[in-house]
Amino acid sequence: MSLYEAIRTRRDVRAEFTGESVDDAVLWRILEAAHCAPSVGNSQPWDFVLVRNRATLRKFAAHVAEKRLAFARSLPAERAATFDPIKIEGIEESGTGIVVVHDDTRGGPHILGRASVPETGVYSTILAIQNLWLAATAEQIGVGWVSFYDAPFLTELIDLPAGIRPVAWLCIGPVTEFQRIPDLERFGWRGRRELADAVHYEGYEAGRGQ
Ligand SMILES: Cc1cc2nc3c(=O)[nH]c(=O)nc-3n(C[C@H](O)[C@H](O)[C@H](O)COP(=O)(O)O)c2cc1C
Repeated sequence: MSLYEAIRTRRDVRAEFTGESVDDAVLWRILEAAHCAPSVGNSQPWDFVLVRNRATLRKFAAHVAEKRLAFARSLPAERAATFDPIKIEGIEESGTGIVVVHDDTRGGPHILGRASVPETGVYSTILAIQNLWLAATAEQIGVGWVSFYDAPFLTELIDLPAGIRPVAWLCIGPVTEFQRIPDLERFGWRGRRELADAVHYEGYEAGRGQ
């Protein structure tokens, strides 16, 4: 698969996990791709916590279900009705969770390139996630990002030391198929913007969509 094809066909997977576990050698290749990501000052501030314990997956899924309900209740009636059929995780079905965590102290206090923009640390960890997601797509393995959680809950669940921050819970596993159209678009939640609306020339306001 070409890089462009992987970018184009990558999907956030929720409902299409087969229930089988991702093969260990494939998982390692995908993690190697994540670990190749660029990082500010070459700080490599990410770590990957692999979770396959059924009880842990169940506990996290129960917590996410509570957060989903709280979000649903916060919505006006029309949005709540649109949200209702949308699945937001495949935690137990995927059988494997990768918690991508971030250590802002990695590399010490003098990180080349982070002095003016402190967020570049966490940006680096997020780039590792994108590498992981694209590599998984190239392996025909599904990934779904779950962010319906309280960080303190996840911190305790996987025993993170002080200062290590969870950035994403990724469900990962073999899939029956990749949807062609993103779920949120298919279910009428939100569609994609046109590229031309996102490109500005010379300045943000004056150069909008010329
Ligand atoms: C930071 C981030 C957090 C996300 N959190 C969730 C989530 O909690 N549940 C979910 O179903 N999808 C989640 N997604 C997936 C998005 O809904 C999805 O990427 C978007 O709708 C576009 O669909 P596509 O990834 O299939 O192109 C998240 C994506 C990102 C980048």
